[in-house]
Amino acid sequence: MTPQPLDTAATEALLAFWRDAGVDACYLDAPVDRTVFVAPPAPLVMQKAAATVTPLHGGMSGADAVAEARRVAAAATTMDEVGEAIAAFQGCPLRAMGARQAVFARGNPRGSVLLIGESPGETEDLRGEPFVGQPGQLLDRMLAAAGLADQAFMTNTVFWKPPGDRLPTPQEQAACAPFLERAFALMQPRAVLLVGAAAAKSVLNTEEGLMKIRGQWREWRLDDGTAAAPVMTTLHPAFLLRQPQAKRAAWADILSLAARLDTAQVEPKA
Ligand code: URA
Repeated sequence: MTPQPLDTAATEALLAFWRDAGVDACYLDAPVDRTVFVAPPAPLVMQKAAATVTPLHGGMSGADAVAEARRVAAAATTMDEVGEAIAAFQGCPLRAMGARQAVFARGNPRGSVLLIGESPGETEDLRGEPFVGQPGQLLDRMLAAAGLADQAFMTNTVFWKPPGDRLPTPQEQAACAPFLERAFALMQPRAVLLVGAAAAKSVLNTEEGLMKIRGQWREWRLDDGTAAAPVMTTLHPAFLLRQPQAKRAAWADILSLAARLDTAQVEPKA
């Protein structure tokens, strides 16, 4: 094939098209030297055998990454140390997919509500804090209107922005879960608010639909017994920005949370 001279206008138009379609990262785990011969793909049966242990970033399998996350999370004795452990953790594949930095938490670690979203977006990736974009600002306004402005400690099921703002995978969430659980145990919140379907799926380990479970109170108890609290799922503020008519249901959820905390206030936190 004869190489064509670069058509700058066409290239710019193509890049603009990709950007508008949500493509914000082009990556592989390692640079590819396309000048060298690449062997054709292995027969399918060999590919299946290789896939039984899925290597992650840094050569870790999924199981190794979770074990390593548990080990370093357990060693953290303060919320700041959890944040430092996350920033140094190499086991989540999202780390190598174009994220600028780790995004752990924002808010009051001594507050009464642990709020868990899905994953950092573009603004969070830039600023290094969760829920600081438009959806986060809506969430802040709702919490403030319910009298909970300084009560929430916000984090996500994963700590790196997924490329193209896709949902985090169960494998990515599993690699990050030990840090989330450690934050839960250190904070000992009176209630947990799960924001959006991916957060509910990861924490409650459920396939039930968001519209069915939103507003319901359940219990989140860690297997090792270090933390337990009532947990409710609500609609994601990004969804509320697209579907303002759903705000009424989400507001009812936030009021239910505020009422639950009022009742919990009878027994002051030790
Ligand atoms: N959406 C989330 O779920 N989390 C954030 O931090 C930002 C947007």
